[in-house]
Amino acid sequence: MTIRAPRPVDVEQYAEAVRRSAEHIGRWNPVEPDGLPELLGRQGSGLRTFLIVDQETGGLVGKCNVANIVMGRFCNGALGYDSYEPFAGTGRMTEGMLLVVDRCFADQSTGGLGLHRLEINVQPENERSIAMARRLGFRHEGFTPRMLYLGGSWRDHERFAMTAEEWPGLTGR
Ligand SMILES: CC(C)(COP(=O)(O)OP(=O)(O)OC[C@H]1O[C@@H](n2cnc3c(N)ncnc32)[C@H](O)[C@@H]1OP(=O)(O)O)[C@@H](O)C(=O)NCCC(=O)NCCS
Repeated sequence: MTIRAPRPVDVEQYAEAVRRSAEHIGRWNPVEPDGLPELLGRQGSGLRTFLIVDQETGGLVGKCNVANIVMGRFCNGALGYDSYEPFAGTGRMTEGMLLVVDRCFADQSTGGLGLHRLEINVQPENERSIAMARRLGFRHEGFTPRMLYLGGSWRDHERFAMTAEEWPGLTGR
């Protein structure tokens, strides 16, 4: 698995991957096959997107947004992710997410985001995403009522988090 920033040339492949995966994404997240140009336009200090790519085939395994990035004394970001067919459920997304977390915590001088804390907010019934947060080693921090507006209403979320000190991949901190 490899991770990289999305590019304009990815627009078509991205749209196909999201369309193929509409059923399993749509239960939890908006399905926006034509959303990559807008997402590219929003990349900046508050939002960084990573595509997870299967190196062997070049196929798109998934996408992870590192959103709500706040630096200063917080150095915090929130992870939001989707996996794509035919890779969903094969373990590749987890592999890619480990790379994303590593990049988030890595120092800016080495191409990382230099974050200190990451959070993952998941709807309580989203077992696959909760399993992902736990596999990555995130701690359950608590419950946030009516946190995000999704599918036409304000949804409760379970809050998972990790700080750089807890990340085994990182050395020298
Ligand atoms: C959440 C999501 C990204 C997880 O990706 P994925 O493709 O399942 O990731 P992987 O293939 O790496 O993980 C597979 C693992 O999940 C497990 N799994 C599959 N279905 C599961 C379920 N219903 N409940 C719990 N675990 C499940 C598998 O057993 C497998 O675990 P194993 O490797 O230990 O056998 C994906 O389901 C998805 O895109 N969901 C829709 C969007 C979404 O919910 N995003 C997150 C919002 S917070």
